[in-house]
Amino acid sequence: MKITFYGHASLGIEIGQTNIIVDPFISANPNAESIDINLLKADYILVTHAHQDHILDVEAIAKRTDAVVVSNYEIATYYGNLGIKNHPMNHGGKWDFDFGTVKYVNAIHSSSFPDGSYGGNPGGFIITKGDKAIYIAGDTSLTYEMKLIGKSYDLDLIVLPIGDNFTMGMDDALIASDFLKCDKVLGYHYDTFGYIEIDKVRAKAKFDAELKTLKLLDIGKSLEV
Ligand code: NI
Ligand code: MN
Repeated sequence: MKITFYGHASLGIEIGQTNIIVDPFISANPNAESIDINLLKADYILVTHAHQDHILDVEAIAKRTDAVVVSNYEIATYYGNLGIKNHPMNHGGKWDFDFGTVKYVNAIHSSSFPDGSYGGNPGGFIITKGDKAIYIAGDTSLTYEMKLIGKSYDLDLIVLPIGDNFTMGMDDALIASDFLKCDKVLGYHYDTFGYIEIDKVRAKAKFDAELKTLKLLDIGKSLEV
């Protein structure tokens, strides 16, 4: 799997010939000016929850690419009503897609649409393909639920929010890494707005001190698992 950072909580994931986009909030992110949403390939768009900073570009990308939106029932139905292909899930459920298996798991957060309407409950995704497994936490606090994920999966990479204020911060991300039994963390959901600015050097040093790796990718850069 190749994971590309598109800024904030937006990711691209390539698995074989399949292109997946997660939580696209790109066109209004001044830090992501180098990324043109009209050039992104997408077969699937995974959406963790309905907040604006996770769904902004879903409709435009889905309509251009004919991608399938995978999310909780309420969000999938919302996009279905716009004529967009979708696959509804709910917490604890998994599905074998053509590219691999996706499980929708709990997150502690909220999930209203920008107009205040109900966006179901927020979640994260575990994506597995062969012997590779990654966990994308979405917006969440630290939660004991992560221990269950660590028990069930041998994770190669965990993607955790580290910006604090709206989600867990770097100290709780360290504990999450213990719960999830994975020392390789890709940090996201930081530096986009004032409330979530972090000291990146300090964050990396905290992980180094516990012999863990905190990856912070420049926008447009990728890593492989
Ligand atoms: Ni959110
Ligand atoms: Mn968010």
